[in-house]
Amino acid sequence: MRALFTAALAAAAAHESLAQPLSSGDCPSSSFKSLTAQRWVKAAKPGWNIGNTLDALPDEGSWNNPRLQASTLDYVKAAGFKSVRLPVTYAEHYVTGSPSWTINATWLQRVSDVVDMATSKGLYVITNMHHDSWTWADVSKADANLTMIEEKFQASWMQIANKLRCKSELVAFEPINEPPGNNAEDGAKLMKLNDIFVKALVDTGGFNSKRVITLSGPGMGADKIQWFKAPANITNPWAFQFHFYNPYDFVFGAWGKTIWGSEADKAAVVAELSSVRGNFTNVPIVLGEYDASQLNTEPAARWKWFDHVLRTAQALDMLPMLWDNGLDNLDRATGKWRDQTAIDIMMHALAGRNNSLPDSTTDPAATVQVSSAYVFNKLGQTPGNQTLPFLLNGNTIRSLKIGSSTLSRGRDYSITGNSNITLHASFLAKYLSATAAPGTKANITVTFSSGAPSRVELVQWDVPKFASLSSAARDAPAGGDLSIPVEWRGLHRVAAVQVVKADGGYLFDDWTQWLGPLQKGRATYNNQWDFDHNRVIIRRAAIDAVIASGQNTTFRWEFYPRAEGNGNVVEYTLTV
Ligand SMILES: *[C@@H]1O[C@H](CO)[C@@H](O)[C@H](O)[C@H]1NC(C)=O
Ligand SMILES: *[C@@H]1O[C@H](CO)[C@@H](O)[C@H](O)[C@H]1NC(C)=O
Ligand SMILES: *[C@@H]1O[C@H](CO)[C@@H](O)[C@H](O)[C@H]1NC(C)=O
Ligand SMILES: *[C@@H]1O[C@H](CO)[C@@H](O)[C@H](O)[C@H]1NC(C)=O
Ligand SMILES: *[C@@H]1O[C@H](CO)[C@@H](O)[C@H](O)[C@H]1NC(C)=O
Ligand SMILES: *[C@@H]1O[C@H](CO)[C@@H](O)[C@H](O)[C@H]1NC(C)=O
Ligand SMILES: *[C@@H]1O[C@H](CO)[C@@H](O)[C@H](O)[C@H]1NC(C)=O
Ligand SMILES: *[C@@H]1O[C@H](CO)[C@@H](O)[C@H](O)[C@H]1NC(C)=O
Ligand SMILES: *[C@@H]1O[C@H](CO)[C@@H](O)[C@H](O)[C@H]1NC(C)=O
Repeated sequence: MRALFTAALAAAAAHESLAQPLSSGDCPSSSFKSLTAQRWVKAAKPGWNIGNTLDALPDEGSWNNPRLQASTLDYVKAAGFKSVRLPVTYAEHYVTGSPSWTINATWLQRVSDVVDMATSKGLYVITNMHHDSWTWADVSKADANLTMIEEKFQASWMQIANKLRCKSELVAFEPINEPPGNNAEDGAKLMKLNDIFVKALVDTGGFNSKRVITLSGPGMGADKIQWFKAPANITNPWAFQFHFYNPYDFVFGAWGKTIWGSEADKAAVVAELSSVRGNFTNVPIVLGEYDASQLNTEPAARWKWFDHVLRTAQALDMLPMLWDNGLDNLDRATGKWRDQTAIDIMMHALAGRNNSLPDSTTDPAATVQVSSAYVFNKLGQTPGNQTLPFLLNGNTIRSLKIGSSTLSRGRDYSITGNSNITLHASFLAKYLSATAAPGTKANITVTFSSGAPSRVELVQWDVPKFASLSSAARDAPAGGDLSIPVEWRGLHRVAAVQVVKADGGYLFDDWTQWLGPLQKGRATYNNQWDFDHNRVIIRRAAIDAVIASGQNTTFRWEFYPRAEGNGNVVEYTLTV
């Protein structure tokens, strides 16, 4: 028996079934094989996040996902993932306050059951406390009650670790997700939480002191590693965990950055990931979250990003775990990946095979964004031969197919200089013409001698039609967003939105005037604008900004294909 009788545990034990023996004696002795963190990280590669699920506030099911089903984990495993990260928010599940902070037993059982659901399929699991980091455990706030945070954090981990103490070596723990921290002082407070976490693992017994854990610096970004210090007296095998969503503007759809892949863009990824490795030359590393969603990134740019990030992570021996909020990657209802190409690119990159990728514009100063992921034909025009350059990366082009029918080389297309596919006008005429109805017409699957297959989408387009082109800002729903019904005429998505005041100035981020022509004055996806299957949406933050500016303001909605002066824009004016 180890010394563990903290007030928190005693109180919690009195409340429910915590009072078991605390050596591993009460766990079946065969159920745990000690692993080094290195072995765990290697075996768990790659991983997938059960995002916006048990971490949702206030409860599982509250955000955009239903309760986790076992079938979801089957889909994840079938795609080649070896582990899941199970983010859990405890904030709304306490049934007592200070000092015991008892977690609802039903909730702890649910966490335990989901862990078992994953391990029963052979998946490695890492579980944590998630949005607790900002709901009650934010040490960086001026009025943070550190006594409360430490007390509640300790009580929580005593209960979580106790509940999960007999789980097998497949199960790893992470103290808390992305804890805010901006300076050395915050860093020291967070390192104290790490100490409390590590001690709770020792104090709860079972297999916990031999279990793999991950530890992190403030925010889990690569930029705050200088404030990380490994806990004293640590017995657990541990890996360092960090998250990567850079560059921010590309990943989150800010300032019209739909282009990615220049040498500078690539070098920035290598520099950031290398700096993490540089700080932890002898510690295994988990890249616990990364993603670029198909909802707001252009496919050729996104595929280049996935290929490069995964290849870099692989070269630096990191375990990548894809974030998935339920809308951007796996469709949990059907088991289909919304961007299967991205998943294939990831898996091939991790297997060390080169992927061939559609070439696309990488110059941030460009006036036109071209992409070999698409052939666009404008209504009223007749397509000629279309040349699509590919970056073969040492591979050769094998075949082009639509569904199960193989295109004929020579008749339907030709290959020039090895890496350019020219789709012949006669072939394109079957799908695209002066009069074809706008919309997506076909997807060509391109296979190569090695690596992931790619996709070329044939799209007939015209400018979308909005139900109206102006309204008064004050007439927008009180406190809410403004939705404008849209009839799509090509891809069902928005590329970027430029927001210009009557005086010619930009409504947001005036400094964007220094960016390229496709980025100047563009607002940010989700925060300021959005869209869904039949509407474009101006967010309340943007409506309020227009009212505050006192100027009639034009939202210039831009669609793919993106090119200055191609007319693929709808202007919507909010008047004041
Ligand atoms: C614990 O959670 C369950 C399920 O949400 C709920 O029915 C129950 O009332 C909760 N218990 C307490 C003591 O709040
Ligand atoms: C801080 O938290 C402790 C422990 O929960 C509590 O006893 C104390 O009253 C709190 N202090 C303030 C100022 O709220
Ligand atoms: C580490 O162990 C030493 C010796 O037992 C003890 O004095 C110290 O408080 C421990 N540090 C932490 C952070 O637990
Ligand atoms: C360690 O991380 C810091 C913060 O990101 C970075 O400035 C530094 O260059 C890294 N050290 C090495 C050796 O890579
Ligand atoms: C298009 O390609 C076909 C096949 O190579 C060729 O015969 C034709 O001349 C080309 N048309 C134009 C306008 O280049
Ligand atoms: C893979 O790509 C890299 C970088 O483009 C290249 O140096 C290497 O030769 C390629 N490997 C193969 C097998 O083609
Ligand atoms: C491939 O296509 C690009 C873009 O159309 C063109 O600049 C290049 O000259 C082509 N290369 C060959 C070998 O045809
Ligand atoms: C082509 O693929 C895209 C992306 O998966 C999809 O949205 C579109 O419906 C497909 N088009 C056709 C004609 O199947
Ligand atoms: C905004 O536009 C409306 C309609 O064109 C016009 O009546 C109004 O005067 C404009 N407001 C300002 C502040 O210019």
